[in-house]
Amino acid sequence: MKLNCRICEVTVQPFMSFGKMPIANGFLTPKDFDKEYFYELKPGFCENCLTFQILEQPDPEKMFHQNYAFFSRTSRRMVDHFKAYADWVKNEYLTTSNPFVVEIGSNDGSMLENFSKKNIRHLGIEPSSNVAEEARKYNVNTSCAFFNLTTAEKIVSEYGEADALIAANVMCHIPDLHEVAQGIDHLLNSMGVVVFEEPYLGDMIKNTAYDQIYDEHVYIFSTRSVKNIFSKYGFELIEVKPQPTHGGSMRYVLARNEKRSISKSVEKQLNYEDENNLHLKGTYDLFRERCELSRKNLIDILQKQKSNGRRVVGYAATSKSTTVLNYCSIGPDLIDFISDTTPIKQGKYSPGAHIPILSYEELRKGYPDSLLLFAWNHKTEIMEKEFSFLEKGGEWIVYVPDVALIRK
Ligand code: SAH
Ligand code: TMP
Ligand code: ZN
Repeated sequence: MKLNCRICEVTVQPFMSFGKMPIANGFLTPKDFDKEYFYELKPGFCENCLTFQILEQPDPEKMFHQNYAFFSRTSRRMVDHFKAYADWVKNEYLTTSNPFVVEIGSNDGSMLENFSKKNIRHLGIEPSSNVAEEARKYNVNTSCAFFNLTTAEKIVSEYGEADALIAANVMCHIPDLHEVAQGIDHLLNSMGVVVFEEPYLGDMIKNTAYDQIYDEHVYIFSTRSVKNIFSKYGFELIEVKPQPTHGGSMRYVLARNEKRSISKSVEKQLNYEDENNLHLKGTYDLFRERCELSRKNLIDILQKQKSNGRRVVGYAATSKSTTVLNYCSIGPDLIDFISDTTPIKQGKYSPGAHIPILSYEELRKGYPDSLLLFAWNHKTEIMEKEFSFLEKGGEWIVYVPDVALIRK
């Protein structure tokens, strides 16, 4: 089958396949096991526009709906991060009186509540109705919709043009970025800015963090790809800012051409990407080899645990864990259960691998011999919380950047 780049439409060959994958956040009950939906997870790199992407993606309605399982507030550190992010946007870019801010993918309102508390005009655009409803409890004005040109037109007719469109971990979810760019062009006033942060390709490659690749993440951006995508719509990158969140992210700031000065950070990041060969196809072939090695090492460790009679439990049923479990064919024979703090996931089974998801309280009833850390992007927060696990002789199994055991 001939596959085209979603951005520039030249033919792109996948450089690997992770095999058949279910919906990453599609936690399910046994009655739905036999009708579970699968697609093939195969990433490709477009050598023309330099955009890393998955070449097949399930329909957005299959992923974002009234039972969406991810709530931003499940991480305390992310809530703090969104406060700092909101303050930064306000101080750096909202300098007019009575500004209006639109966030897309506003989820449970963790970012926008910081504007709401300061009585700043704001609107969240969030298609998953359950998380949108949660945001309203925090006085966050939220409209339940996918962001596209039609949504942008509705926003402008109801509220007027916006000073900023902000986002986190959602731009990389949206397959049709042409529509998004047209929507942004319609929405923003002449000095308006677009600010978004997403998992960063440079970090994913450096750390062999292949679990960043799953259905929702149709793109993993680099500075070069973001620059190329938005340049077609009269927007230029004016600042980039690396972030430690989600295992390495990048914040991008764009403005209409020649409206604002360009920070040196943009040139610096473009040079970094060139020096690290992010524009070359060979980089992705090497990445594939490292993914295969990581899979082998993780399976070896888990099989050893099993043959030594050790009990292994998974820590956090992250979206990323769906890629790892299915790519490595890890099932309930190797992992007893996965503990997760999100009520909507508890009592269900992990997508594809069908490992039971139990509450955090269940884990605290009696620690297993080993914990496999799926939420490695929240490692600092979790290691602080689970200090006593290592003290009691437990061991962590980690797989990013390398497969390893952590003992006291
Ligand atoms: N910004 C939050 C949530 C990220 S999860 C955070 O960083 O924690 C991605 C969110 O984007 C989900 O809540 C999903 O429902 C929403 N989303 C997906 N497609 C979207 C689209 N086209 N427009 C707006 N939101 C979208
Ligand atoms: P994410 O990897 O998609 O950000 O999802 C994080 C998941 O991890 C979410 O389901 C909540 C869970 N989690 C825990 O169970 N315990 C924790 O301490 C943290 C930080 C997250
Ligand atoms: Zn392309």
